[in-house]
Amino acid sequence: KCKNGNLNTVIEFRNKQVAMGRKKFNMDPKKGIQFLIENDLLKNTCEDIAQFLYKGEGLNKTAIGDYLGERDEFNIQVLHAFVELHEFTDLNLVQALRQFLWSFRLPGEAQKIDRMMEAFAQRYCQCNNGVFQSTDTCYVLSFAIIMLNTSLHNPNVKDKPTVERFIAMNRGINDGGDLPEELLRNLYESIKNEPFKIPEDDGNDLTHTFFNPDREGWLLKLGGRVKTWKRRWFILTDNCLYYFEYTTDKEPRGIIPLENLSIREVEDSKKPNCFELYIPDNKDQVIKACKTEADGRVVEGNHTVYRISAPTPEEKEEWIKFLEPFLSLAPTEKFLGK
Ligand SMILES: *[C@@H]1O[C@H](CO)[C@@H](O)[C@H](O)[C@H]1NC(C)=O
Ligand SMILES: *[C@@H]1O[C@H](CO)[C@@H](O)[C@H](O)[C@H]1NC(C)=O
Ligand SMILES: *[C@@H]1O[C@H](CO)[C@@H](O)[C@H](O)[C@H]1NC(C)=O
Ligand SMILES: *[C@@H]1O[C@H](CO)[C@@H](O)[C@H](O)[C@H]1NC(C)=O
Repeated sequence: KCKNGNLNTVIEFRNKQVAMGRKKFNMDPKKGIQFLIENDLLKNTCEDIAQFLYKGEGLNKTAIGDYLGERDEFNIQVLHAFVELHEFTDLNLVQALRQFLWSFRLPGEAQKIDRMMEAFAQRYCQCNNGVFQSTDTCYVLSFAIIMLNTSLHNPNVKDKPTVERFIAMNRGINDGGDLPEELLRNLYESIKNEPFKIPEDDGNDLTHTFFNPDREGWLLKLGGRVKTWKRRWFILTDNCLYYFEYTTDKEPRGIIPLENLSIREVEDSKKPNCFELYIPDNKDQVIKACKTEADGRVVEGNHTVYRISAPTPEEKEEWIKFLEPFLSLAPTEKFLGK
């Protein structure tokens, strides 16, 4: 017991020191990192520091951006290790930018932004070979998209570019050639539908719970009480299905614990590629879940089933494949040894 007591004291002490290191980091990033290294709380390698920043727990995102933007050779190495931690494979450029720009706050200085966007473009092209002729194309288009975000969503900009103008503006940027119009259209629509969001600085937001989601993507969800279809960003993690209005939202609109639920494919007269989460052997029982009302109150959900529509048959299959391990099989299926 005594030994345990000592161990607890040690753990408590280290936790306090980590908390202090984070505070120091938020005031002066370099000093914070130095403190953590000197106290054996962080290894002095760019990979470990990058991991620490990527997790970002309790860290001010402005401070993360400042540290990553520094010109120092070591900071540049950390920046590259940090970018490597981002997985952009199969994401379009806007989706990748959303993820990237959410992990820190872009500093104000042009040179810092430049270094970061260059690292981003390199990583994007590495993950998505063949989408662009060169890293430069990706870099230039990334800037065009960030500007488009401002033009479309800043109320002070009165002259909103149309998709045709956006396409015209990006003529010839692919090493002299044009990018596929469909690609530019998709990127434009994505930004139009959802602006980039600035991450908040508080350390205890929910986003870091979703580091390594088992799966995430857009799906349509049929309402419980009001039978309308809403597009939601779903994240499968921690044995729960979370859904958000925007990919960058801090708070989910709803949480569905998967315990005791089962899954089945269903036909819907209005939407394709549907599946349902349901309680086996049950008709009227409401599924234990919660959601946020428009006014911010958290209330119990009112679903006897969750009916969900995927964009394509392939995505439906994928979702079912990923969800199944978390679900309980219906008794008959268990009996059949399925
Ligand atoms: C995108 O636009 C929104 C709305 O004007 C703004 O708050 C945000 O800072 C912009 N994001 C970037 C990366 O410029
Ligand atoms: C994060 O750091 C910036 C710059 O130092 C500061 O303006 C902001 O208030 C900090 N945010 C929090 C939540 O401490
Ligand atoms: C799942 O079922 C068990 C046994 O009936 C029950 O104790 C538990 O609360 C259920 N969990 C949820 C999330 O409904
Ligand atoms: C849930 O929906 C049913 C009808 O679908 C309704 O009778 C009931 O009042 C609803 N419950 C809540 C808590 O809204």
